[in-house]
Amino acid sequence: MFHWLERNPFFFAVGVFLVVAYAGVVTILPDFMESARPVTGTKPYTVLELAGRQIYIKDSCNACHSQLVRPFKSETDRYGKYSLSGEYAYDRPFLWGSRRAGPDLMRVGNYRTTDWHEYHMLDPKSVVPGSIMPAYKHMFQNVADIDTAYAEAYTVKTVFSVPYDQPDMPTLGTYDEAKKQVMAEASAIVADMKSPEIKEAFQRGEIKEIVALIAYLNRLK
Ligand code: HEC
Repeated sequence: MFHWLERNPFFFAVGVFLVVAYAGVVTILPDFMESARPVTGTKPYTVLELAGRQIYIKDSCNACHSQLVRPFKSETDRYGKYSLSGEYAYDRPFLWGSRRAGPDLMRVGNYRTTDWHEYHMLDPKSVVPGSIMPAYKHMFQNVADIDTAYAEAYTVKTVFSVPYDQPDMPTLGTYDEAKKQVMAEASAIVADMKSPEIKEAFQRGEIKEIVALIAYLNRLK
């Protein structure tokens, strides 16, 4: 019945395109609908968390860690609920990753704490014997770049209408207001940390990279 179609490369190609396009539309389109994203409870990152996220990208954590829990029992037992597309609504760029040299970090904030991260980032083997993860000592020296994080938040708010300053959402406000809030958030994290150098630096008004990174890791839930 379809012999004429098979003998006509042009119409055959058009037919193949239509079938593939239809499958694409059916599987992808629902994710673009308003109701599918973002999942209720998903909030934009605060400025301090964004600074941590920029460090995560800068130091290539995503080369070894995924942020995507697949719907298999082995994964949900270990990491928790499997990931939904709407949970990434404010991830620009998303950090799903394509390699797991280390564990998935999508929900690491549920089972690791500030002081655990502090020891682990300084010397992974001190808390996980035999760990092959590199140490990130420089994060205890370098100062976090809050200005760039503020610029990022301001940009996504303006260009992509990310809902900062809405009811139940993080406040961004002016640069000075944001700076104050960053200090308040950082102060809570520094209080849970052990290192006297980090505490001293914070007294001087310096937020080290490790503080911003931990803010970000704690937020992954
Ligand atoms: C070379 C690969 C590699 C890189 C790069 C890497 N990690 Fe890891 N990571 C690992 C491995 C392997 C483990 C498992 C052993 C361990 O816990 O130390 C791990 C474990 C972890 C854990 C504990 C997770 C859990 O469920 O126990 C956290 C948190 C973590 N990494 C964060 C980071 C961050 C943040 C960065 C970037 C600054 C990073 N990692 C970069 C390999 C890596």
